[in-house]
Amino acid sequence: MELKPRLLITGASGLLGGNLVRHFSSRFSVVGIYHKYRPAIPGVKLIQYDLSSIDACDLDAFEGESPDYVIHCAGEANVDICEQDPNHAERQIFGMTKSVSQLAEKHGAHLIFVSTDAVSDGANEYLREDAIPEPINEYGRAKVRTEEYLLADHDLSMVVRTRFYGINFEKNSSFTEHLLRQFGQGREVTCFTDSFSTQIYVLNLADVLEECMQKRLFGVFNIVEDNKCSRFRYAKLVAKCFGFPEALVVPGSIDDMDFVAPRPPDTSLCNAKIKAVIETRILSAEDGLAVMKRDLKRWR
Ligand SMILES: NC(=O)c1ccc[n+]([C@@H]2O[C@H](COP(=O)([O-])OP(=O)(O)OC[C@H]3O[C@@H](n4cnc5c(N)ncnc54)[C@H](OP(=O)(O)O)[C@@H]3O)[C@@H](O)[C@H]2O)c1
Repeated sequence: MELKPRLLITGASGLLGGNLVRHFSSRFSVVGIYHKYRPAIPGVKLIQYDLSSIDACDLDAFEGESPDYVIHCAGEANVDICEQDPNHAERQIFGMTKSVSQLAEKHGAHLIFVSTDAVSDGANEYLREDAIPEPINEYGRAKVRTEEYLLADHDLSMVVRTRFYGINFEKNSSFTEHLLRQFGQGREVTCFTDSFSTQIYVLNLADVLEECMQKRLFGVFNIVEDNKCSRFRYAKLVAKCFGFPEALVVPGSIDDMDFVAPRPPDTSLCNAKIKAVIETRILSAEDGLAVMKRDLKRWR
């Protein structure tokens, strides 16, 4: 009998982790770690664990799993919560990743740490991996500290800078689902014309990560689509793809918002480095949304 490679995914109840667990479960022996919310994913081993409370000695909790690969998606993803409580950000981003990296190292597993595109001050477009990161909020600073820790001490680590969109099968709705709900009720949605990013469809990201695992890539990689897009344009693409009037998307400015954490205005990343080493096609927002629409019909 052929043994499947063992893959540990943290954040199994989140947008990214939930999609990855579903995506990989047929070809890998997947273990998903969640914290407060148990995801409803049939046929997958799920372990409840508070990763922020463990230190290296407690890692025996996962001893039986001995993973070949670890994709670490768990963490505090709310930028404003991180700003209000930097110690929480440190625990939930740096501390948790440190523990998970020790677990991966103990098993000689290839670790993929999901970082962020918010590592710069947002003044320059299409940031490359070799540019010096200059984060402007606590979330970005905690991610950069974590990246530096992994790259300095953990040879088996891959740091993935990304931003993704998709359907969250678990507790929270994604931005895309919010748009679809509002459009479905004929409601207008105000979206920023002056906030830019490069994104990737979450299951396209899963395909790219699979190739990265096969190739055992190490170091920092930006994994996003080629072209940056404003929130406003993205919302219009969603409306068009799902057959809603594009006029429901109303222009707004990020300057009108009173966010707790400052937001870099342009977090677009350059994807040339990853594209030079993988064969998986990275989809444009138009193509990614069309695939997402198909996936949605298949799963719901
Ligand atoms: N969303 C984006 O576009 C985006 C962009 C750039 C980077 N990222 C990064 O990508 C990663 C995944 O993002 P996401 O949007 O999927 O996040 P999410 O939906 O907010 O999910 C976060 C996950 O972390 C888990 N978690 C939180 N605290 C934990 C703890 N103490 N112990 C164990 N698990 C814990 C949560 O578990 P419970 O729900 O069970 O408590 C949940 O599964 C994050 O690191 C985020 O910073 C996201």
